[in-house]
Order: sequence, then C-alpha cells, then structure tokens
Amino acid sequence: EKEGYDHFMLKEIYEQPKGIHETLNRRLDENGIVKLDGISLTKEDLEGFNKVYIVACGTAYHAGLVGKYIIEKLAKIPVEVDVASEFRYRDPFVDDKTLFIAISQSGETLDTLAALREAKNKGARILSVVNVVGSSVARESDDVFYTWAGPEIAVASTKAYTTQLMCMYLIALYMGHTKGVIDMELYHRYIDELQKVPDKLRDMLADETTLMEIAKEQYKLEQVFFIGRGLDSAVSFEGSLKLKEISYINSFAIAAGELKHGTIALIEPGTLVLALATQDRLFEKMLSNIQEVKARGAYVIGLAKEGNRDIEKQANRVIYIPDCMDDIAPLLSVVPLQLLAYNIAKLRGCDIDKPKNLAKSVTVE
Ligand code: F6R
Repeated sequence: EKEGYDHFMLKEIYEQPKGIHETLNRRLDENGIVKLDGISLTKEDLEGFNKVYIVACGTAYHAGLVGKYIIEKLAKIPVEVDVASEFRYRDPFVDDKTLFIAISQSGETLDTLAALREAKNKGARILSVVNVVGSSVARESDDVFYTWAGPEIAVASTKAYTTQLMCMYLIALYMGHTKGVIDMELYHRYIDELQKVPDKLRDMLADETTLMEIAKEQYKLEQVFFIGRGLDSAVSFEGSLKLKEISYINSFAIAAGELKHGTIALIEPGTLVLALATQDRLFEKMLSNIQEVKARGAYVIGLAKEGNRDIEKQANRVIYIPDCMDDIAPLLSVVPLQLLAYNIAKLRGCDIDKPKNLAKSVTVE
C-alpha cells in the first residue's frame, strides 16, 4: 500500500499536489468561480452572520489560524479560532448569528465533536471541513465541505492539512464573492495562484537535496525554534508540531515579534532557529528578527521565496519556495517543513508512521 515509499507519511507528502488539485477543482465552475454545491450558504445567510468561529485540534487548528487570516481579509467578517478542548468548556459567545466551522481530518475527534454540539445548542450554523466521508463531525453538521486528500494513514497529518488550507481559501473566496465585498480582479488572481500550486509543489518535491543536507547536519539537535510573522507564524506552529511529534526534538514555535518578550532568553550559541520569511510585506521585519537571534549565536535556516535572495545576507542556510502571492504561501512553505521533519526523524531512527504516545484519531478526552 505504500506504493514504494518507505513510509505512509512520505507517500502522503507526495500526494499533496493531487489532493490540492482535487479539492480546488471540484469547487470551481467553468468560469473559475467557487461553487459550493450541496452547501446551503446563501447571500442572505452570509449577511446574517456577524462572526465566524473556527474550532479544531492540533494540525487542523493550525489550518484554522490561516483560515482566520484569509476569511477576515476576503469576506470582511471577524473570525475567532480556538482549540476545541478550550472552546467547549468556556461558555463562548456563540449564537444564531455565528457561522461555526469545525475542521477535522478524521471527523471523530471527541473534543471537536463536543465543541460542535455546544455551538449547535447555542444556535450556530455548523459547517465542517472533514476528510472522512460520513464521520461523526460530518453527520452532525448542517453542511460539510469535504477535503479530497484521500485516506491519511500516517499519524502525522500532512495532506489533510494542505487540503484543509485549500478549503479555507475557497470558503473565504466564496463568502467574499457572494457578499459582494471582494474586488473581482483580486478574486481571479487568487484562483489563478491557487491553480498554480500543484505544479509548484511538484517542482519542489522533485528536488530534496537542500533538505537532505540540512537534515544530515541537524538531526542530532535536541532543541529547535520556529519563528515567523503573519501567515508564516501560523505555518511555524505546524512545522514545529510536525518535527516534535515524529522526531521527539523539543521544538517550539513563536510569532517572531514576540521573541524579545521572553523566549529570546533561550537562544544561545548553536541554537537552531528556523525563520520563515515568505511574506514580502514582513520580509524586512523578519530580517531584523534573524539578526537578533544571530547576534546571540543562533544558527539560522531561513525559508523564503526564490525572489527574496537578500535573506542569504542574514541566514546561515536558506530553503526556497517558488515565488507566489503572499497569502497562498502556506500551501507551499509547509511542505519543506514536513519533509525536513520526516528526514530528521528517519535519521534518528524513529517510528515515523506511528510515533510513541500518539493516536491517529483522539476519540477520548
Ligand atoms: C498532527 C495531528 C493531530 C491532529 C489532531 C486533530 O499531525 O495529526 O494534531 O491534527 O489530532 O485530528 P482531526 O483532524 O482528525 O480532528
């Protein structure tokens, strides 16, 4: 079943161009407009919502962080994101003017399901983003937006995450367009950029040389920090989770601007810092953050778009992703982080598809 790959995780990383393509193309009509067939969110419905709540756990929660950013920007509505285990015990402010979005690969995560029931009791409309057809979360939702990742076997989530991201973009574009609050030229630019992602990913996956080199240099390390700003901060959390869950390296992610409010105390000579700097708007700010940690002796691996070679002046090594619109960069930038985690875990001899203490689907509290 692994079709020649050493692990399911690697197979699933390589299946991402296909999953992303499927998830996107099933939702586009012949004019490149997002259609949500089978999902009943009318213009009237959308205008009736005054808030969106995205609730999920783990990797799915990290997809929600990107969702917040994109939905607020394109659909002009406030979005809150929370982890399900906090949401469900907090008596959150949810009512019949809330659109509640649950994100879950398995559709069986107990906390996510309980949060969904809580929101439903309070009158919210429930839209879920789910990979497993007919799962509990899907069954209990008003509407379901399926990710077309195909079965995900490895405990560490990869293709579910990138297809969840794609759903976030599509929901944001759909809402913005239906409400008439998005400029159509911009709308088509997003669609165009999203359509280019599968090919860009295939190109990236064709050359793993830099990542292998970095993995060989760094696999013995016991501590790593991921930093980033804006969407890169959301992807930092996911990159860090991937690394810790399969390699057992103590990995920590933080919004780069927060470093100097405490965490920078932990940076010492030789500390590895992965600095995500894919956002043009925040590029200079990230270069300053890199400088700050380097001044304390950190070894910095930068992650940037091909066009931003200036990062080489600051970072010790750089991983490049193809040039793209800032807002869609998470779909590309997470992939080298998944591969880095995979290659490091492999060199450490870890049980990659079944990491210790973890279950694929958390159906208990
Ligand atoms: C991490 C991972 C977990 C899941 C989380 C939610 O790689 O797989 O963090 O993302 O347990 O699971 P689902 O999406 O099935 O609700």
